Amino acid sequence: MAAVAVRRRRSWARFALACLGLCLSTAFAVDRSNFKTCDQSSFCKRQRAIQPGFSPYRALLDSLELGPDALTVHLVNEVTKVVLLLELQGLKGNMTRIRIDELKPLRPRYRVPDVLVADPPTTRLSVSGRDENSVELTVAEGPYKIILTGRPFRLDLLEDRSLVLSVNARGLMVFEHQRLPRNSFSEKVSLTFGSIWDKIKNLFSREERKETAEGNGSPNEEAAEKADQPEENREKDDKDEPGAWEEMFKTHSDSKPFGPTSVGLDFSLPGMEYVYGIPEHAEDLRLKVTEGGEPYRLYNLDVFQYELYNPMALYGSVPVLLAHSIHRDLGIFWLNAAETWVDISSNTAGKTLFGKMLDYLQGGGETPQTDVRWMSESGIIDVFLLLGPTISDVFRQYTSLTGTQALPPLFSLGYHQSRWNYRDEADVFEVDQGFDNHDLPCDVIWLDIEHADGKRYFTWDSSRFPQPLAMLEHLAGKRRKLVTIVDPHIKVDSEYPVHEELRSQGLYVKTRDGSDYEGWCWPGSAGYPDFTNIKMRAWWANMFSFDKYEGSASNLFIWNDMNEPSVFNGPEVTMLKDARHDGGWEHRDIHNIYGFYVHMATAEGLIQRSGGTERPFVLARAFFAGSQRYGAVWTGDNAAEWGHLKISIPMCLSMGLVGLSFCGADIGGFFKNPEPELLMRWYQMGAYQPFYRAHAHMDTGRREPWLLAPEYLGPIRDALRQRYALLPFWYTLFYRAHLDGHPVMRPMWVQYPKDVATFSLDDQFMLGDSLLVHPVAEPGARGVQVYLPGEGEVWYDTQSHQKHHGPQTLYLPVTFSSIPVFQRGGTIIPRWERVRRSSDCMKDDPITLYVALSPQGTAEGELYLDDGHTFNYETQNEFLFRKFTFSGNTLTSSSADPRGHFETPIWIERVVILGAGKPASVLLETEGIPETILTFHHNAETSVLTLRKPEVHVSTDWSIHLR
Ligand code: NOJ
Repeated sequence: MAAVAVRRRRSWARFALACLGLCLSTAFAVDRSNFKTCDQSSFCKRQRAIQPGFSPYRALLDSLELGPDALTVHLVNEVTKVVLLLELQGLKGNMTRIRIDELKPLRPRYRVPDVLVADPPTTRLSVSGRDENSVELTVAEGPYKIILTGRPFRLDLLEDRSLVLSVNARGLMVFEHQRLPRNSFSEKVSLTFGSIWDKIKNLFSREERKETAEGNGSPNEEAAEKADQPEENREKDDKDEPGAWEEMFKTHSDSKPFGPTSVGLDFSLPGMEYVYGIPEHAEDLRLKVTEGGEPYRLYNLDVFQYELYNPMALYGSVPVLLAHSIHRDLGIFWLNAAETWVDISSNTAGKTLFGKMLDYLQGGGETPQTDVRWMSESGIIDVFLLLGPTISDVFRQYTSLTGTQALPPLFSLGYHQSRWNYRDEADVFEVDQGFDNHDLPCDVIWLDIEHADGKRYFTWDSSRFPQPLAMLEHLAGKRRKLVTIVDPHIKVDSEYPVHEELRSQGLYVKTRDGSDYEGWCWPGSAGYPDFTNIKMRAWWANMFSFDKYEGSASNLFIWNDMNEPSVFNGPEVTMLKDARHDGGWEHRDIHNIYGFYVHMATAEGLIQRSGGTERPFVLARAFFAGSQRYGAVWTGDNAAEWGHLKISIPMCLSMGLVGLSFCGADIGGFFKNPEPELLMRWYQMGAYQPFYRAHAHMDTGRREPWLLAPEYLGPIRDALRQRYALLPFWYTLFYRAHLDGHPVMRPMWVQYPKDVATFSLDDQFMLGDSLLVHPVAEPGARGVQVYLPGEGEVWYDTQSHQKHHGPQTLYLPVTFSSIPVFQRGGTIIPRWERVRRSSDCMKDDPITLYVALSPQGTAEGELYLDDGHTFNYETQNEFLFRKFTFSGNTLTSSSADPRGHFETPIWIERVVILGAGKPASVLLETEGIPETILTFHHNAETSVLTLRKPEVHVSTDWSIHLR
């Protein structure tokens, strides 16, 4: 025993040294050799070897059955004879679902549970036409027809006779059926993937030869006959496919007791040239073609020092791809939680605009088309086609399936101050006081792993944090919060009750042999709770009750880090794929959803501890489709480099497109020390991104804003104040995201879907439909080139109030204090303009409305208010949703949702109208109260009209007339 302990200590020390070495190494670059390429991932390699045009799958049209909710049809692989079941559903709201599984699987294949919020309502399909090789289906609700072709299997979705999307048009579908283990009789004689592929090619070439000879294209009887023989009668000398039953990566062996089980499918998108989504990658907003390079990988991984502009996997995965053209939008949601790769190709890739124009002049050229191919290691094919036709429709469709962004508590939209680590209570008090001393607003202070006793989460290091409750009370007195980290790896220590309970209740992930799986992480040897187990999640949620998590209080919230899960000594820094979860599923099946479950259980714990009344705040690093229901995410361990500042825009935009609106990047960069200018610019950019938190690695120098020279501190203070002034706007945007899935932070093309110049823009973005933000992301910048889109649109610089016309590329000179932000003419934005210590101090403050007039002299906007922290908005309708409209020289306030009622002292203290002429008088009309005259000030130079003190209550209906 003692020897084992010593060995363990030694290897831990070696491991810690290795980590330290890595941390201190000066060269900042990912070690690519730690992560697989497609070639090193055997299923990806197998699938990618398949070339288009040889699909062995045939839909047996005679087997077609139409039920009330779905159509089913058998698909046969003409070489292996294995029969699959295809289920096709028309879903309400212009969606189609395709599921393909084995008809008679040796064991059930994993179907991803808990991601869909409900069984999506279906709409009837009926057969509206038929010939010998195809069936035409009509969708009861929706403008679509679906053509199912028998041989080779293919689905085409058409709207008004024009093709919108095809499935398996390139014939790249793969469904590796399950086989018995290799020593059993049937496996010895079964065909390997490579040999099947050879046979497919043979089959096709024989057919081609015959077709050429016969010249009539009739089916090749001989080949079909051969293919009709059962597998066992065919060649018996096939060699095992490398990686099919066991795969090595570095020193790690991945046993595959169920053999190869991968699935893949291709989608052709005619008319589409721009595709987006499938986060998380440190990539441009617009996805690139992957031909000749690596596919985009979706496999939640803790990537140390990630590199920019490459398709390597990162911490989270959302298997949703969006396609956009000036004519329409659509989405593909590939519901599979296993390791997944996505290949993108396009017939216009590499062609310059000039080349495309030349094509056009020479007679049209090809219709642009993008082809997307999904490849997953296990599970079934379960795919939702989100058929738009507008991007708004796609947002609604996707979030109707997986849920919308949880409405965050108001405080969480304020500023968060974090670092690894705030040393002790005195340090926390000092940082908290630092904000007050320097007139900087702040809502939350964060404690990283060192706050806990030896990284035993749910505990406190008693020498550094002897009185957590008093510390929390102190912060509550300042109307601030604390966040502590609770990671999903649990120190193996028989004295640690959390570990002992999990162990004794059998709630840890197991190895393939059934013992508790152990890996290395921050605490040393650690167990990994099996969050896929509902009992485990209930147990975990209960851990956040105030009596269980001692030293916690209602102003303490949670950060779930390392939930990919990160396993320092595991393959690719994560869990062995043959580890076992509840129900006997392999980790391979569920990997990408593990982090989602951690987030879910923690959020549920915070709700439960309040008896179901309080909204939770939980930040998680790993995520999956649907994680938006549980809180916020961030872009992980970035670096103090200008490139990392820039990439935070496309990274958060990509997440917003697929439901995850509450996204941010570590302000200042996690690794390395930012130069003051970079830190300042990051504060300025972060003020306009949804999740606003500064965070830093333990080896970096302290960088609280007041440690910077005054020329940097001043602009940081301004940025923080701008953030806080816009909190009512942020809160309203989040309510919108919560209602109908529209992202808070949006790519320019979402607002200007017909303006091709916006389709690849990712150095600027929109907040809702009102603010355009073009952060300064270059050192020593003297100016920025801002693209102000929109024919007939006007844009008001929010600092100078100067009006600019769209479309134009504007060169805007900048200084240290500039954050180029423009309010779109035609919008109204609410602000809180009194400077306070935290959002909680502002929540009853009066509102100032900024009305930016369109060239037609109109504008509209909205304001959402509630208590900022409970579910009463949902359960008791305790909210106010107001609509403001300016037209015909009159600004009116009315209810946007009459169900809402909410007691609040908030009133409108000022109205600022941008682009206004000088009126002779201004009259306020409120229901039941005689008209009053308002005082105003008009600045002729800037055309800004300020109406002072309307003093109307925010919940009443009123009109202000400019005469
Ligand atoms: C990795 C996280 O990404 C980082 O933010 C955190 O500070 C460290 N883990 C330590 O907990």
